Amino acid sequence: MRYLSAGESHGPCLTAIIEGLPAGLRLFTEDINRQLERRQGGYGRGARMSIEKDRVEVLSGLRFNETIGSPLTLQIKNRDWDNWQELMSPEGSEPSTYNKVTRPRPGHADLAAGLKYNYADLRLALERSSARETAIRVAVGTVGRILLEHFGIRFYSHVIRIGDQTAEIETLHLPELFEIVESSPVRCADATAAKKMVAAIKQAETDGDTLGGVIELLITAVPPGLGSHVHWDRRFDGLLAGAIMAVPAIKGVEIGLGFSAATRPGSEVHDPIVRNARGIDRPSNKAGGLEGGITNGQPLVIRAAMKPIPTLMSALPSVDWETGAASTAVLERSDVCAVPAAAVVLEAVAAWTLAVAFMEKFAGDSMEELDAAYHYYLEQTSGHLNKS
Ligand SMILES: Cc1cc2nc3c(=O)[nH]c(=O)nc-3n(C[C@H](O)[C@H](O)[C@H](O)COP(=O)(O)O)c2cc1C
Repeated sequence: MRYLSAGESHGPCLTAIIEGLPAGLRLFTEDINRQLERRQGGYGRGARMSIEKDRVEVLSGLRFNETIGSPLTLQIKNRDWDNWQELMSPEGSEPSTYNKVTRPRPGHADLAAGLKYNYADLRLALERSSARETAIRVAVGTVGRILLEHFGIRFYSHVIRIGDQTAEIETLHLPELFEIVESSPVRCADATAAKKMVAAIKQAETDGDTLGGVIELLITAVPPGLGSHVHWDRRFDGLLAGAIMAVPAIKGVEIGLGFSAATRPGSEVHDPIVRNARGIDRPSNKAGGLEGGITNGQPLVIRAAMKPIPTLMSALPSVDWETGAASTAVLERSDVCAVPAAAVVLEAVAAWTLAVAFMEKFAGDSMEELDAAYHYYLEQTSGHLNKS
C-alpha cells in the first residue's frame, strides 16, 4: 500500500492517491474531516486556521462508503485559493505588482530549496515545504487508521512539553484521559501545566517569538509481528521513526525509554518475560512495544520533539537572495506554536506506517481476506503465548 500527494500551500488544492487498499473497507468522509478539524485546532495557531475549514472530497475508489480496491483519490480544497489565484496560477505570467520572496527564513526550507531547485523566487520553496501539506497527510493517515480501527487498534496523542513547561502524566493512562486531552487548548492532560503552556505561548507571541515542544503517542491493541528483524529496511522502528521525523519541524524521535535507556543498566531497561494468568506476559513496556524492529504485542509508545516554528515575527537575520544584502527574514502569516496540531499529524503518520506494515503482513485484496488472515494469525500466536 502506498500513496503520493501533491499540492502547494496556496494552490487550488491538496491531493493524494492511495493505492493498494483492500476492497470493502467502510469509509466516511466525516471521519476524515473530524481528524482534519483536530489538526486545525490548538492554542497558538495563526490566522490561516480561521480561513481554512478543511474538508476532504473523495474522487475515486469509493462507492456507497465502501472502498472498491481501486486507487482512492482524496482532495482538500485550499479555501485561501480565492485570494491567491493570480499569484499561483498554473498558467499565464507573474503580475507586475508581485514582489518575489527573496529573504530566506532560517530554519525553513527557503535557502536550501532555493539552492537545490535554482529558484529565483523563494515562494516556490515555501509553497510546498509549508506544513499546509500535513493536512493531506492527516487525510491519508486517517484512511490507514480507519483500516486499523477495524482490528481494534487505537491511537492517542498528548503534549507533554511546550517550551520549558512540562506535564506530569503517565502515558498508559492516556485512553482514560482522552476527553481531557481533546478539550485542552494545548492537548495536555495536566490542567496546571496546560495553563502554563498557554501563558508561555502568549508570551512568545508578545515577544515575536515561537515555541516547540514534545508530543507522546500511544497506540494500543497492536498485534505482535509487524515489521521484521530480517532486513534493515523492514524494521518497524526505523520505518516509524522515519515517518515521524519526516513531519516538518520534528527533530527527535524516541521509542519506549528512548534516550534515557542509554543512561541505565540493562537490568533496568529490558522488560522481563513472565508467565501469569494471561499466559506469556510482559509486566512492563520500557521497549515501547518494539523489539528487534518487530511489534511485540505491547502498546507502541513514541515521543517526538518539535522545534519552534521558524517564521518569527521578530525576524531573524538573513541575506537577500537577489541582491546579497544583509537583511531580515521574510514574514509570512504563521503559527506561534503548532505542537498540539503536530500531535494530530503524528497520530496520522503513525497510523499510515502501521497500516502499511499491517497490509504487508496480512495482505488481502478484500476486507474478508484480511479478516481471515488476521484471525488465523491471532490463533497461531495465542497457541504460543498460552502454552501450558
Ligand atoms: C502542524 C504544523 C504547523 C506548522 N506551522 C508552521 C507555520 O505556521 N510557520 C512556519 O514557519 N513553520 C511551520 N511549521 C514548521 C515548518 O513547516 C518546518 O519547520 C519547515 O518546513 C522546515 O522543515 P524542518 O523544520 O523539518 O527542517 C509547522 C509544522 C507543523 C507540523
